[in-house]
Amino acid sequence: MPVAVTPITPAVGAEVSNVDLRSLTDAEFAQIEQAWNRHAVLLFRGQTLSDDDLLAFSRRFGELDPPPNQEHGRQSPPGYPDVYVVSNVLDEKGAPIGALGSGEAVWHTDMSYADVPPDASMLYALEIPPSGGNTSFLSMQAAWAGLPEALKARLKGRRIKHDGTYNSGGFVRKGVTPSDDPHKAPGSWHPAAISHPVTGVPALYLGRRRNSYVEGYSQAESDALLEEVWAAATRPEYSYEHRWRVGDLVLWDNRSTMHRRDPFDEATRRVMHRTQIKGTRAPRAYVAAA
Ligand SMILES: [Fe+2]
Repeated sequence: MPVAVTPITPAVGAEVSNVDLRSLTDAEFAQIEQAWNRHAVLLFRGQTLSDDDLLAFSRRFGELDPPPNQEHGRQSPPGYPDVYVVSNVLDEKGAPIGALGSGEAVWHTDMSYADVPPDASMLYALEIPPSGGNTSFLSMQAAWAGLPEALKARLKGRRIKHDGTYNSGGFVRKGVTPSDDPHKAPGSWHPAAISHPVTGVPALYLGRRRNSYVEGYSQAESDALLEEVWAAATRPEYSYEHRWRVGDLVLWDNRSTMHRRDPFDEATRRVMHRTQIKGTRAPRAYVAAA
């Protein structure tokens, strides 16, 4: 059976079926890459992947990025430093085996506080709680396209500070001293609207709301503007909420999407293994045709 690509929502996401990620042909991979550039989020159900399989599939997209520094530092399965564990599970000594606990993870783009954030991230589901823990994805291309012109004008030519103090679970990254001053906080400046390096499609580039700041405005003006922009951007019709099953692999384009996670019961287990693909270039500003 040939590989099938079925869009999940009009704005974002497609399911790729009839494919085993352990044994992809070059032609199948080319189809996956094309679908990824078009739909931004790809879902592959029913996979059976070891960490070696996950790494081999990930490396087809490019060089891997080391895992982010989280609340407990960097946590990987033994012998797999390029795999990062997202989990609330505690080991036999009571220490967390992964990051982000069981709480909500707020809307964000992975590691946009870096000068060159990863191009892509993927999550592979090993253990899933009976309820909760859904991951939602938001098309930032749809968000930009739907943004009122008055808001686009207020962002035009400006950069946003992407703060790197807190991770998406609200935890301070290990070794970082928190500061609420956007000029002092660790992080990077990126254009508010960026163009996709392959397709050229513009996307709003917000990263995270907390400690975010638009250059050239006072703190109060920036906060007021960001509240309006975030409210306009995070509309349900731009998003896809994924209910996980064991064996799901979800790959997302980190340049054109944001994601968030619902909380779940801390007494239940959720174990995901994640990899990320190193960015090939810093986000570049989208310049509208005159
Ligand atoms: Fe994330």
